Amino acid sequence: MGGSVIAVASLKGGSGKTTLACCLAVHWHLKGRTTLLVDADPQRSAMRLAERPKALGGVALFERANADVWNAVRRRSGGQDVTVIDTPGFDSEITVAALAAADLVLIPVKASPLDVDRMMDTVKTLMHGVPGWTPTFRCVLTQTTRGSVIARHVREELTDGGFPLLDGEMFNRVAYAEAGLFGATPSMVMPGNPADREIAAIAEEIEPLLDRASRAMSA
Ligand SMILES: Nc1ncnc2c1ncn2[C@@H]1O[C@H](COP(=O)(O)OP(=O)(O)OP(=O)(O)O)[C@@H](O)[C@H]1O
Ligand SMILES: [Mg+2]
Repeated sequence: MGGSVIAVASLKGGSGKTTLACCLAVHWHLKGRTTLLVDADPQRSAMRLAERPKALGGVALFERANADVWNAVRRRSGGQDVTVIDTPGFDSEITVAALAAADLVLIPVKASPLDVDRMMDTVKTLMHGVPGWTPTFRCVLTQTTRGSVIARHVREELTDGGFPLLDGEMFNRVAYAEAGLFGATPSMVMPGNPADREIAAIAEEIEPLLDRASRAMSA
């Protein structure tokens, strides 16, 4: 996964971008991968988490909430195993610049029809935002209720619509916010708990995609 860049993006606010970006970055950092987390959101949510006592486990982090994020990531990602960019929850040149720097785009989507519609707008931005470039992307269901009818329907709707969706999903768990209180993720403070395991499963599903994307970029 050397030099891989992941952008976590969605035009829907509150879909779980920052939570997913921080949890994945910290997961890889704890596994000993050289990991960089980039906060490209003017709200500075990831930066603010890192200002709390557990400082996201000391993962390397910088902020660049403007279109220069493309340059900054291209300059620094080569020396890392993986770079994860958290993006703003609205259509902006920052989001497009972050997408352009990414080998893989993860789109968190909540299991509701309103969120699915907005996810489709995100995919259009992805496809048309950067001329001549079609990113690899995957949707990830977030904040789902285990066994709920709506989660199953949304999964079917996305799959039938040809939107690639990870098998792994983030269930609705208070562990994410509780860990965040201390500037941590569940993997740091509750290793082996269900939230830690679901993040590990998502990371494991993504890793082969990164290997493929970096091979395609260097070909
Ligand atoms: N899997 C989850 N289970 C429970 N709560 C969650 C989960 N994921 C995120 N949350 C909570 O949902 C809220 C929104 O999450 P988050 O800030 O990650 O979304 P976002 O997409 O980054 O939002 P914004 O668009 O404002 O940047 C937060 O309060 C967060 O703690
Ligand atoms: Mg956010």
